[in-house]
Amino acid sequence: MKILHLISSPRGAESVSLKLGNAIIEKLQAANPGSTVITHNLASTPFPHLEEVHITSFFTPAEKQSPELAGAIKHSDEAIAELMSADAIVIDAPVYNFQIPSTLKAWIDHICRANKTFSYSENGPVGLVKGKKVYVSISSGGIYSEGPMKAYDFIEPYLRGVLGFLGMTDLTVYRAEGLKMPGIGEHALEKAIDSIAV
Ligand SMILES: Cc1cc2nc3c(=O)[nH]c(=O)nc-3n(C[C@H](O)[C@H](O)[C@H](O)COP(=O)(O)O)c2cc1C
Repeated sequence: MKILHLISSPRGAESVSLKLGNAIIEKLQAANPGSTVITHNLASTPFPHLEEVHITSFFTPAEKQSPELAGAIKHSDEAIAELMSADAIVIDAPVYNFQIPSTLKAWIDHICRANKTFSYSENGPVGLVKGKKVYVSISSGGIYSEGPMKAYDFIEPYLRGVLGFLGMTDLTVYRAEGLKMPGIGEHALEKAIDSIAV
C-alpha cells in the first residue's frame, strides 16, 4: 500500500493531529506489511496560494505554456501525480479558527483541476480520483462531533464535500477533541488512538 501523509499543523512534534495521523499510519502499516509512506509537511513546505499565474496555467494547453506558466503549474502537477499514485491518504487536519489551516487549503486548491481530478458530464460533476481510502486526523480544543458546538463543525463536512467531489468518497474521520477542556483533554488523544480501526 502506498500511503500519502499530509501534515498541516505548524506545531511540529507537539502537534496532536500529527500524533494521531502517525498512529493511523502505524495501524495501516501493521495491516498492510511493506507499505510505503510519502510525507508532506505543508506547514514547513507550503504550496503557494493560488495566484493569477496558477489559474492561467491550469487553463493553458501544455504545448502553449510559457516558461512562467510551466513553472506555475508544476506544483499542481506534482501534487496530483502523488495523489493519483497513493492508495491511502492520511490528512492531518487541526482546527485553527474553526477551519483547516490555510496550508492544507492551498494543497486542496492545487489538486482541484478540471479534466484532471474532476470533470462535468450532462448529469453533473464526475470525480476522477477513484479507489482511494482517506483517513482524516482532526484535533481541536473544543468538541464538534456532538453537543452545543456541533453547528460549528465545518471541517468534516468541507473535506467530505470537496474530496467527495473529486471522487474520494471512502473517508474515515478520527478526532482528538476537547483538548483544551479540563477532564477531557488529558485523555482525548489516547481515546482517539484507541478508536482507530483500519
Ligand atoms: C491559533 C489557534 C487557533 C485555534 N482555533 C481553534 C478553534 O477554532 N477551535 C478549537 O476547538 N480549537 C482551536 N484551537 C486549538 C487547537 O485546535 C488545538 O491546540 C489542536 O491541538 C491543534 O492541532 P495541532 O496540535 O495538531 O496543531 C486553536 C489553536 C490555535 C493555536
